[in-house]
Amino acid sequence: MSSPRKIRIGLAGLGNVGAGVVKNLQKNSALLTTRTGAEIGVGKVCVRDLAKSRDVEVPAAQLTTNLQDLLTDPATDIVVELIGGTTIAYDFVADALRAGKPVVTGNKALLAERGIELVALAEKENVPLYFEAAVAGGIPIIKAVKEALVGNEIDSIYGIINGTSNYILTRMNDADLSYDAALKEAMDLGYAEADPTLDINGWDAAHKAIILAWLSYGRWPKPEDIHVEGIENIAPEDIAFADRLGYAIKLVGVVKPGTDHRIECRVNPAFLPKSHILAHVNSVYNALAVRGDVVGETLYYGSGAGQDATSSSVIADIADAAANIAHDAGFEGFLPHGEHGVSVPLSETTSSYYVRLAVDDRPGVIAEITALLATNEIGILSIVQPEPDQPKKGTATLVLTLHDTNYGTIASALEKIEALPCTQKKPVLYRIESI
Ligand SMILES: NC(=O)c1ccc[n+]([C@@H]2O[C@H](COP(=O)([O-])OP(=O)(O)OC[C@H]3O[C@@H](n4cnc5c(N)ncnc54)[C@H](OP(=O)(O)O)[C@@H]3O)[C@@H](O)[C@H]2O)c1
Repeated sequence: MSSPRKIRIGLAGLGNVGAGVVKNLQKNSALLTTRTGAEIGVGKVCVRDLAKSRDVEVPAAQLTTNLQDLLTDPATDIVVELIGGTTIAYDFVADALRAGKPVVTGNKALLAERGIELVALAEKENVPLYFEAAVAGGIPIIKAVKEALVGNEIDSIYGIINGTSNYILTRMNDADLSYDAALKEAMDLGYAEADPTLDINGWDAAHKAIILAWLSYGRWPKPEDIHVEGIENIAPEDIAFADRLGYAIKLVGVVKPGTDHRIECRVNPAFLPKSHILAHVNSVYNALAVRGDVVGETLYYGSGAGQDATSSSVIADIADAAANIAHDAGFEGFLPHGEHGVSVPLSETTSSYYVRLAVDDRPGVIAEITALLATNEIGILSIVQPEPDQPKKGTATLVLTLHDTNYGTIASALEKIEALPCTQKKPVLYRIESI
């Protein structure tokens, strides 16, 4: 038997994920060599701070603070970008592609914002670009959409693709925690970053949804065109009402085809029916339901972040890159890829809805509300006046579920309801997703 080929990665970033890559490449080194026919080792490693203590040991001679050292080192076969961000990382990945080095990245923000340029560059330079870790950490969803479902039109993707927000919503539901208490717990346990903004405002999930939309429809939705709403304003009472009505509130990324090649790509908290398995995806876990026109519904579940799960995906990409080097394969395109897509405006997206109203507690109010909805041709599925935990004199709570209608219609009807003299507060609105 011939001895295995030697493949060296140049690793940019030795933080959470980078350290996991080094650790797990070492841990399963023999297995990887057997499976890939290549002995995959770590070459130059770039960090910001050479003095920082690390989870893994890398000989000092391999460490550098100059990203270019990874590209000029002739031993670097594959470049792995795990520094994050969209400026220095962009320049570095672009330089790596221009230098003819296959690139593996887990950087969802970079792809969502500048993927259109990087994929075009990868094609121009005929160099592959891999990004399995960029969406849903350890879940092999990129391979699933790009390869396993290649013979399908993608009818829809519904994904719980942010573990931090899912943890917070799970704890608000299961332990009756307030949003602030659940966020603090997530931070104390290390499930949320020191700055959790992108997790809770929906943008981390949006970056992933944009990548999935591109893979599904060959066009990149522009970040500024898509609707992104986070979990910051979810009230415990809506979590409780959702539960009573047979739903769970989850932050979902939704990707669907629109008419005229437009793309519906959005992130919002939504009521998911408990009859669907996604409603039972709890804690920091991620899951995606992908419906293809040939295969029907498929489901993917697992750890959407974390050192080991994410490094599993990075290592899978490194193994692919190593195999492609052996076959002298270049850019493996997923065409078309060079255009921005037109997004379906929020006002045209359709679903059913949950609405909670605080209104005057007097006869005739329900009739006023239902008449206004009828005038706007919005059908009511259910209406209840639940007994609140802390009743307020003179105020009645109304909880309605509404038939499918477009968002523009419901938003305008709610503006009119808010203007009624009987309405005491801004109405609360959530989508009910029928997956
Ligand atoms: N964490 C996850 O669970 C997860 C999951 C999926 C995808 N990702 C993606 O993976 C990437 C890395 O995430 P992470 O959590 O590992 O980040 P991290 O813990 O903050 O690590 C970043 C690493 O990059 C180094 N670095 C940053 N800027 C640099 C620069 N300009 N030059 C040289 N080195 C630089 C840092 O060096 P120092 O150590 O010296 O500061 C650090 O080692 C991000 O794109 C992230 O979105 C992460």
